Amino acid sequence: MAALERLAGPRTRLIGVSHVPTSGGLVQPAAEIGRIARACGALFLLDATQSAGQFPVNVDAIGCDLLTGTGRKFLRGPRGTGFLWVRAAALDRLDPFVAEIGSATWDGQQGFTWAPGAGRFATWEHSYVNVLGLGAAVRQALDLGLEAIGQRAAALGARLRRQLAGLPGVTVHDLGPIRCAIVTAKVDGLAAEQVAQALARAGVNVSTTVPEDNPLDTQDRGVHPLIRFSPHYYNTEDEIDRATELVAALATLPAPHRADLKPRPARGPGSDKTHPGRTGLGRMPGAHDTLPGGVRNGRPVRRR
Ligand SMILES: Cc1ncc(COP(=O)(O)O)c(C=O)c1O
Repeated sequence: MAALERLAGPRTRLIGVSHVPTSGGLVQPAAEIGRIARACGALFLLDATQSAGQFPVNVDAIGCDLLTGTGRKFLRGPRGTGFLWVRAAALDRLDPFVAEIGSATWDGQQGFTWAPGAGRFATWEHSYVNVLGLGAAVRQALDLGLEAIGQRAAALGARLRRQLAGLPGVTVHDLGPIRCAIVTAKVDGLAAEQVAQALARAGVNVSTTVPEDNPLDTQDRGVHPLIRFSPHYYNTEDEIDRATELVAALATLPAPHRADLKPRPARGPGSDKTHPGRTGLGRMPGAHDTLPGGVRNGRPVRRR
C-alpha cells in the first residue's frame, strides 16, 4: 500500500486491482486503495472476478468507479457471462470503444448520444439464455445472503488452510492479513499436477496455479505451481477434513509409490481450473457435467 501511495499522483489516470488474485487466498484492501485513488483523482477499477459471489462486495464502501466480474466462478453462473458496473459520476470520464445499436442513439446525421448509464459499454447482441442463467445465479446468491456465504466460505478456507499448514511436508502459500476461501499449497517432492490428479481420483476436485498465468507473482515468490483449493459454501467440514487426510496421505507416500502418480493431461476445453462450482471440493449439488481431472459426480469418467 505504501508503494501504491508513493506511485499515485496527479498523472495517475486509473488504478486497476484484482480484489482477489487468481493465484491465492489474498483479499486486497480494496477500500484503502479506493481512498488512495480518490486522493489523487484517479479512476479505480476493481476486478471482482474472484470475489463477487464469494463474499459481499460493496462499491460504495470500497469507493471504486468501475467493477467487473464474471458469472462462472464463485457466483456459480454460466460460463461466458460477466458484468461491468460503472459509477454514474465516472461515465463522462470514459469513452466506450465503439458506438452501436443500443449503446448510443444516432441523430440521423453525423452525431450520436451515448445511452444513459453503463449500457453505453454494452454490445447489442447477447446470449440471452446465459444472461438469464447469470440472473438466476445472482438471485440465488442474494437469497442465501452474501454475508452468510462469505462467512461460511472463509471459515471453510481457514479450516483447510490451518489443517494443511499443520501437515509435515506440506506448505501453504496464501498472502496477506485478510484471506478468503481460496487456499494454495504445495506437497514436498510432488508436482502440483500429480497431487491434483490423485485428489481427482479420490473425488476431490482442485485446480493448480501455473507460472504462465502468474508471471509477476512467480517472479516475486517463485512458488508456482501450487495446488489450489476453492471450497465454497456448499462444501461440508467433513469434505474439508477428507481433503486434508488425502493430502496428508500423499505427503507421507513412500518414494516408490510417488513414481506411480502421473500428472493429468494438459488443460483443454472443459477443463477450467477456476470455477468453484467445478473445482470446489467434493460434492457439487446439481453438477452433472464432467469436472477437471475427468471426474463426474465424484467418479472418474473415461474421456473419448
Ligand atoms: C482475478 C481474475 N480476473 C479475471 C479473470 C478472467 O475471468 P473471465 O475469463 O471469466 O473473464 C480471472 C480468471 O481466472 C481471474 O482470476
